[in-house]
Amino acid sequence: MGNTVLVTGGAGFIGSNFILEWLARDCGTVVNLDLLTYAGNLLNVASAKDDPRHIFVHGDIADRALITRLLGIHQPRAIVHFAAESHVDRSIYGPKQFVRTNVLGTFELLEAAREYWSVLGSAQSEFRFLHISTDEVYGSLAADDPAFCETTPYAPSSPYSASKAGSDHLVRAYYHTYGLPTLITNCSNNYGPRQFPEKLIPLMILNALESKSLPVYGDGLNIRDWLYVDDHCSAVRTVLAEGQPGHTYNIGGRSEMRNIDVVRTICRILQEEHPSKNDYASLITSVEDRPGHDRRYSIDCTKIEAELGWKPSETFETGIRHTIRWYLKNMEWVAQVRTGEYQQWIRTNYATRAMNA
Ligand code: NAD
Ligand code: DAU
Repeated sequence: MGNTVLVTGGAGFIGSNFILEWLARDCGTVVNLDLLTYAGNLLNVASAKDDPRHIFVHGDIADRALITRLLGIHQPRAIVHFAAESHVDRSIYGPKQFVRTNVLGTFELLEAAREYWSVLGSAQSEFRFLHISTDEVYGSLAADDPAFCETTPYAPSSPYSASKAGSDHLVRAYYHTYGLPTLITNCSNNYGPRQFPEKLIPLMILNALESKSLPVYGDGLNIRDWLYVDDHCSAVRTVLAEGQPGHTYNIGGRSEMRNIDVVRTICRILQEEHPSKNDYASLITSVEDRPGHDRRYSIDCTKIEAELGWKPSETFETGIRHTIRWYLKNMEWVAQVRTGEYQQWIRTNYATRAMNA
């Protein structure tokens, strides 16, 4: 087989970081299939625009005929499936698109992959279908519960996590039923360059810079386990190269933090990197909680560390500083991704929260 991979969702946050690193390491050609929803932006892969190893295709993972055509033309050795609706708050206000893309889209992709793989002959054993999933499929932990491991039962709480759980089940079923060499990674919260400013960390950085309030949901004591995006990408490359088909690998940063502490850390580092005469932390505001808000996530990543030798390189302190510096240097990117549709979402989201507060 050649060295081409099909990446879905490569114009989004993690997918674009993955592709840029893949090309920088000269790992091969990438076909980047992305629907360019509000979260996908070609600006994210602008530096690869003229790179002959990067082939962008504007399209939908649910378009099976398109996928079949792409697989036939490019003969990839793997599909790395990032494309999804990814924001929990949006899934609460509009779950249908999450079921359509995350469940039905993944199903169509799997069917096209199965058809392609079934006639690969001796190359069948080299092919990989890697599904990029989330720790949210495991549900919520209490303060003293042990961290999620690969055998933790699924208990998703939001329409987003339920749709990702549904897609994980389909991916696993295609391994057991048809022998398609699938793998799943369940990763904790990512942060880093090019993350869409609806998510906690970029939202807080940008609101602080604009002297807007920093809305912390509920008591701010919910816990997430943070991982710098480059470390997630290196884990994905590792699983693609060394992971066992049919297996799941949890990925995390061993970096649990309360939301309020994440926001305070951002305020402190912003003060060092971009001093303001007003204390950024004075902008922190407690707002109505997210419905069904999972209390705590914690990832046990012993399996990928012990079996595949992967380890994260960044701590939260180093990763958040890189991230803040990136946003400070890329305010033009920020202005361009805040489209009309995003403005509408901000208005609706804030209005709903204000009404219910
Ligand atoms: P994102 O929202 O930034 O990007 C998603 C990308 O998918 C966008 O470019 C969008 O245009 C594209 N897309 C959406 N629907 C599509 C469709 N029907 N066909 C083709 N493309 C489509 O998301 P992200 O944060 O980069 O997350 C990527 C993946 O990683 C998702 O599957 C998500 O569930 C998973 N994940 C994310 C995190 C995190 O913290 N962000 C953590 C663990 C797992
Ligand atoms: O755990 C992995 C998941 O992490 C991924 O699967 C999702 O795609 C990704 O969006 C992320 O989900 P979260 O819901 O944890 O991320 P978010 O950035 O939306 O929120 C992080 C925490 O911060 C969460 O407890 C909610 C809280 N929050 C979020 C926002 C946007 C706030 O307190 N205020 C906010 O304005």
